Amino acid sequence: MKEKRIGFATRMGAIAATVGSAVGLGNIWRFPYQAGVNGGGAYILVYLLCIVLLGIPIMMSEFIIGRSTHKNMKGAIEQLTPGSPFKIFSYIGVFGALLICGYYSVVCGWVIEYLWSSVSGSLLESNPEQFPQIFTTFIGSPDRCVMWTLLFLALNFLVLSRGIQKGVERMANIMMPLLFALLIVFCVNSLLMPDSTKGLSFLFNINFDKLGWKGVVDAMGQAFMSLSLGVTCLITYSSYFKDDSNLMKDAVTISTLDTLVAILAGIVIFPAVFSFGLDPQAGPDLIFITLPTIFQQMPGGTIWATLFFILLFFASITSTISLSEIPITFLIDEYKFSRGKAIILTAVLMTVVAVLSALSFSTLGDITIAGKNIFDFLDFVGPNFFMLLGGLVTAVYVGWIIKKYVIHDQLTNGGMHRSRFVQPYITICLRFISPVAIIIIFLYYVGLI
Ligand code: TRP
Repeated sequence: MKEKRIGFATRMGAIAATVGSAVGLGNIWRFPYQAGVNGGGAYILVYLLCIVLLGIPIMMSEFIIGRSTHKNMKGAIEQLTPGSPFKIFSYIGVFGALLICGYYSVVCGWVIEYLWSSVSGSLLESNPEQFPQIFTTFIGSPDRCVMWTLLFLALNFLVLSRGIQKGVERMANIMMPLLFALLIVFCVNSLLMPDSTKGLSFLFNINFDKLGWKGVVDAMGQAFMSLSLGVTCLITYSSYFKDDSNLMKDAVTISTLDTLVAILAGIVIFPAVFSFGLDPQAGPDLIFITLPTIFQQMPGGTIWATLFFILLFFASITSTISLSEIPITFLIDEYKFSRGKAIILTAVLMTVVAVLSALSFSTLGDITIAGKNIFDFLDFVGPNFFMLLGGLVTAVYVGWIIKKYVIHDQLTNGGMHRSRFVQPYITICLRFISPVAIIIIFLYYVGLI
């Protein structure tokens, strides 16, 4: 007998879990530093455009595939278009998720190290000049990096082992509201700082000179990363959605909340950076070097630092849970694994990738692929290859290949509500705008534009 597939219990839970997937290091770590190096307001403007023209339509295309079939991408394609060669692309999602989650967990390990050293007080005992060195020494120490990464993965799979409702959904229902509450407290605190207006004008002033092609391409890639697109994460989650959820409304809610978190993270960081006279264009170091410098000079710094890294921990674990669920659901659906066995196999594979990435700043530093160490290589191919190619495939598949009535049926829940504007908007974006935009990004990366 076929085992019943248990999905999310409530619509709120499904949204919380999907927002949990979307809101991650991408929003709190990557978005602010990218806005910082790409000219602030102009970057944000292009980013918003990317969300509307690429993000929401591709999110919808994944939702349509997942919710119409309640299967992972491979099973879904077999059901929607039997015999279609598109199903081979489902492996992009599964492999992409393993690789992305592998290196992403290493950064999550760094978050735990910083959380631990904030709680124990050792982080803020150091001199500000030492922060860069503390960070490099830490990522260069194999045992500490591997230990925290393994601890993180253990927590991640512990939640997953409790299942969709009791693990994934419950965790998101607890962590997401707390994350929003913490973020708002941080925002208020930042806005009360002496030079907060300078920070805000850096973040919101529109200056296209600093943007250039690189900024535009960065914004497109960031939209993919932030909304968890391209590696079938949203197909997987939406396969657990209820049939009466309103896909368009949910996609807009999820994208809006995700974008809000990214912008709020900018509002937390830049007023503080300016008030303490630090460099807003520090790049990826912003969180692990610039922020500790700020916490150290703030009254109650230990508490602020601890709360900040807790926030980051919530954001990151709800994202890795969603990435891990991709291979797990795939193994359950396609190879009839039990959930327990699927989790064990996924955990083993991800741990291998994670440990190799964690060691790429120390023991395995000499191993390079295309001139990059393992971590940097995965950080490059994950967003720039797997997510983009996957996004292109889902856009083309839903835009051009599947039957129109499936899309209509999913958008209107079988005719329950209207989709007069939504359907043409989605179709035009999926057929033309997204493929062209993704091809432009590819051309940019291979140096043709
Ligand atoms: N969206 C997450 C972030 O912003 C990362 C993430 C989670 C992701 N699941 C994903 C990225 C699936 C791509 C695909 O940090």
